[in-house]
Amino acid sequence: MNAPTPHDLNIQAPAYVKNARLIAWVADMAALCKPAKIHWCDGSQEEYDRLCQQLVEAGTFKRLNPAKRPNSYLACSDPSDVARVEGRTFICSEKKEDAGPTNNWMAPAEMRATLKPLFDGCMAGRTMYVIPFSMGPLGSPIAQIGVELSDSAYVAVNMKLMTRMGRAVHDVIGAEGGFVPCMHTVGAPLAAGEKDKTAWPCNETKYIVHYPETREIWSYGSGYGGNALLGKKCLALRIASTMGRDEGWLAEHMLILGVQNPEGKKYHVAAAFPSACGKTNFSMLVPPQGFEGWKVTTIGDDIAWIKPQADGTLRAINPEAGYFGVAPGTNMQTNPNCMLSLARDVIFTNVALTDDGDVWWEGMEKDTGHLPAHLIDWKGQDWTPALAKETGAKAAHPNARFTCAATNNPALDPAWDDPAGVTIDAMIFGGRRSTTVPLVTEARDWQEGVYMAATMGSETTAAAVGQQGVVRRDPFAMLPFTGYNMSDYFQHWLSLGEKLAAQGATLPRIYCVNWFRKGGDGKFVWPGYGENMRVLKWMLDRIEGRAQGRQTAFGIAPHYAEINWQGLDFSATQFDTVTRLDAAAWGEELKLHDAHFEKLAWHLPQALLDIRAALAQRIHA
Ligand code: GTP
Ligand code: SPV
Ligand code: MN
Repeated sequence: MNAPTPHDLNIQAPAYVKNARLIAWVADMAALCKPAKIHWCDGSQEEYDRLCQQLVEAGTFKRLNPAKRPNSYLACSDPSDVARVEGRTFICSEKKEDAGPTNNWMAPAEMRATLKPLFDGCMAGRTMYVIPFSMGPLGSPIAQIGVELSDSAYVAVNMKLMTRMGRAVHDVIGAEGGFVPCMHTVGAPLAAGEKDKTAWPCNETKYIVHYPETREIWSYGSGYGGNALLGKKCLALRIASTMGRDEGWLAEHMLILGVQNPEGKKYHVAAAFPSACGKTNFSMLVPPQGFEGWKVTTIGDDIAWIKPQADGTLRAINPEAGYFGVAPGTNMQTNPNCMLSLARDVIFTNVALTDDGDVWWEGMEKDTGHLPAHLIDWKGQDWTPALAKETGAKAAHPNARFTCAATNNPALDPAWDDPAGVTIDAMIFGGRRSTTVPLVTEARDWQEGVYMAATMGSETTAAAVGQQGVVRRDPFAMLPFTGYNMSDYFQHWLSLGEKLAAQGATLPRIYCVNWFRKGGDGKFVWPGYGENMRVLKWMLDRIEGRAQGRQTAFGIAPHYAEINWQGLDFSATQFDTVTRLDAAAWGEELKLHDAHFEKLAWHLPQALLDIRAALAQRIHA
């Protein structure tokens, strides 16, 4: 191989890069990865357009019809590289017990020894992009700076849409500032003169590695989503959750929305649902008929950093600047604000291509009333309705996604970029459960809310590689994203609540929801989407003391009459179907809580076991 030696490769940092540690790190990593070139991203539109054009020429991007979808592209990944790889994700703390039983662990020294030969020469023949980014508003005291080194131009352009990326970040880092180093390679070095044989290079071997103590990220072998856009799950959740533990704040897999009533009073709500379980949808909710004068606005759709203030309030920011959202199922009925966000300046990944150069995914037929006669599916194959009927072939991969800037969203909250964040009035936790878990209940106190979140179950989705539709415990929707021992994370939540309560603060109410209960016909009973507003309003009515609710074994539930049904035909019988607590099902559910707690026994807070005992008593009463 003819890869340059470190001496050949002048890393040529631009004059505006003043941070000696950053420059030295880039030089070290270039010496290790041996790229053919280094590109320091400045984050400009001109650079974005140039890299996109380059991706078009490489065959990674297809430029969509500018008349239909201006300045937008379609990328189709290797069929083996379509989602997060939880089985290959590691938390490498010094001690195994600090990673806890829910994370894969390897000792840092052993992992470094494993990764070193993989990274040695991994970027040969490719360009190393130096991608400086800020999670959170530039220069804000709560923001965190990262620098990702990646051999993927796809990553560079996605990071431009998803984060505050570019030259201004170097001004924030300055000569002395710190940053989280994020190493990324698709793991497909090229021999001298060799051209890519594929438009989506990647490697069968994959490692998504975090060193929480030294705050480093190393990702090998995948070019997709959370595996490769390292500001998102790796930094803003796994590394940030450990920062939060150490510094007294929370990094959560939560959307943040603003909701304003017709009288002009505004609340802010954060909600944690597992991957592909409705965060983007809920954060862009359009109030339905019967909610005239109500307004919902988006602060974030995936991640919240929540910090306690001196006055006892919890203020939250969205560290991201864009959306990497699930395409299938999105249409003008389920999420109009999202569809409008996708009108232009979008990168689509793994959706289908129409004959007139636009994109298509399952669910869009609801808007047009018919399936397209012909498509090129996400694997590059012909797709027709007849073929789909026969084989069940999906035109778009179920985890197909769009990337767009938050500023595309017509429902973007004016405070979305405010470094001070917004005050959280309520928190919601919700899994995808066909049975057992009711539409909505309110926790009687913070501790019961933590219990509900800690024991949350959800059916697995296409967002992660692996079996789908199986119920697993996904505490706080953070199972794949907590960067330390889960029971310590529970304790961190309990301690935060205690501390705020001791200050005399009014803690946010905590709610448990389930939009996904199914009837005997196997169909969702609750209409969901915009209709979730009806549940959201009941929560606000509770906060305002206007809904009494009724005590159940699992929190406080609404009376049928307490929900505004104007504009929706939903009978008391249907309501009963989605809210009923079945004693036998809950007996089984408690066994699952027990098994979960057994697994998490080390450092499991006693408070959760006490709540479990009380819950069992109420259920069997
Ligand atoms: P990540 O980006 O993976 O973290 O997921 P997310 O929580 O943002 O998921 P998203 O909002 O994109 O939801 C994706 C899936 O949930 C799609 O299949 C939607 O159709 C479905 N979905 C969202 N909201 C609802 C709802 O209220 N009811 C039902 N039945 N399905 C919903
Ligand atoms: C998720 O899986 O929760 C996502 C998508 O938000 S990814 O960024 O790929 O992890
Ligand atoms: Mn997510």
